[in-house]
Amino acid sequence: MRPIAEPGRRASGPLVLALPKGRILAELMPLLARAGIRPETAFEDPHCRQLRFATNVRQLELIRVRSFDVATFVAFGAAGLGVVGSDVLMEFDYPEVYAPVDLGIGRCRLAVAEPASLSKEDDPSRWSHIRIATKYPEITRRHFAARGVQAECIRLTGAMELAPSLGLCRRIVDLVSSGRTLAANNLVEVEHIADISARLVVNRAALKTDPDGIGRWLERIREAADAG
Ligand code: PRP
Repeated sequence: MRPIAEPGRRASGPLVLALPKGRILAELMPLLARAGIRPETAFEDPHCRQLRFATNVRQLELIRVRSFDVATFVAFGAAGLGVVGSDVLMEFDYPEVYAPVDLGIGRCRLAVAEPASLSKEDDPSRWSHIRIATKYPEITRRHFAARGVQAECIRLTGAMELAPSLGLCRRIVDLVSSGRTLAANNLVEVEHIADISARLVVNRAALKTDPDGIGRWLERIREAADAG
């Protein structure tokens, strides 16, 4: 479905910044503090069920959602700004989402992995059809189609590393950071797909409507990222 902002949405409401849950928040919050953004105390409380948070800045709110959902909230204009990994942007490729700032955090890579035992005799240049468990079926299909390999993707939303040992398929495409999750599951990287980092994203229509207000936030967060 092509995202179109709800016509009834208040153009004058608070600007919403969508943040991804998970380990990236530990790197992101000091960056936001340098940009002068501090959330209300409930944001740091792991037991709090609140999903929408005020900040020290009047008219700026934070929401905390799954990283794939950040792109969706921003694409539909429900959030004007967001922080999301370039993996998610590559997977969805929403034309309404503009990603002008590489925040230089959340650095990792997207890679193909398989059991260490298989990799000893495997030759990726001979693959013609492979089955892959992944959260990234679009990226995976595109990556392999470019060299004439047909990738049949089994979509999972987490714990991809379990798939080979349980016989779901022999290979996975997933994010790799330290490599500890692969190693703990007897998997090895056999192919690099892309380097990944977190991006500041903006809804294009919101930027057109409020170029000064949103433009100022882009600059402030860009400066905070450069100062990190
Ligand atoms: C990511 C990714 C891997 C792991 C890689 O999952 O999907 O499982 O991190 O990190 P490593 O190389 O440092 O071990 P994450 O922990 O973010 O949770 P998820 O499975 O919910 O995506």
